[in-house]
Amino acid sequence: MIAVPTTSGTGSEVSPAAVLSLPDKKLKVGISDNYQRPEIAIVDPLLTVGMPPGVTAASGMDALSHAIEAYTTKRYDRKPKPSDPSKRAIYNGTNNLTDICAVEAIRLVGKFLRRAVNNGYDIEARRGMSLASLLAGISFTNAGLTAVHAMAFPVGGRFHTTHGATVALLLPYVMQFNAVVNVEKFAHIAELLGENIKGLSLREAAKRACFAVRELYLDIGLPYSLRDFGCEEKDARSLAEETLKIQRLLAGNPRQVTVEDLEKIFRKAIRGEL
Ligand SMILES: [Fe+2]
Repeated sequence: MIAVPTTSGTGSEVSPAAVLSLPDKKLKVGISDNYQRPEIAIVDPLLTVGMPPGVTAASGMDALSHAIEAYTTKRYDRKPKPSDPSKRAIYNGTNNLTDICAVEAIRLVGKFLRRAVNNGYDIEARRGMSLASLLAGISFTNAGLTAVHAMAFPVGGRFHTTHGATVALLLPYVMQFNAVVNVEKFAHIAELLGENIKGLSLREAAKRACFAVRELYLDIGLPYSLRDFGCEEKDARSLAEETLKIQRLLAGNPRQVTVEDLEKIFRKAIRGEL
């Protein structure tokens, strides 16, 4: 299998995952197997030049979400090994190698995504985004993801939203929830996205990272909140319950998350209240 990406976002060229829609379950969900991992990836930024701004924006935010989630996913200094193999965590958790890729991917998206959306023929920006997507793909397919991607699946299935835009609109809210357990990394994300964090406490800088992500997706024309996709607050509970079933991803969330937590995060993301 030789994979040649024409967008910059999914990281599918290095990933074992495929995303399928299950209409009867109202779910858009990922399945993962190493047989799906391409043998060769040919990443040529020139193939992304014709990508329209909307697709550039949404797929670019998918790459950012992969990188931020991989960077902040659970760390396993010792991996739990339940006797039932189906209960074992698939991903390896964040580690020094996946961090190197994630950090560079976050920096590249912060530097180039606005430019790539504004001018598709900005080859330097396209190159930056292609590399960001690839690095984020390498990072998350080894480290794992967090609640962002888990929450995006029921939203995508029920409201037929674009994957990249959905993760984008959930990302700052999950970051806000997760930041308390690892302020150092979230403060670093703020810095990587170009925020001036000098003089701020780590906690304040971590908060800045969430706002930087929202500012980015608004700058590139994505909607303000999940309400713009037709989600209403009355949907929050059932979306939270559906999310709870996506344990493959939820297991990687660095902070323990209950159905009540998920509901609260959904409410905030629907209202757009960061
Ligand atoms: Fe994704």
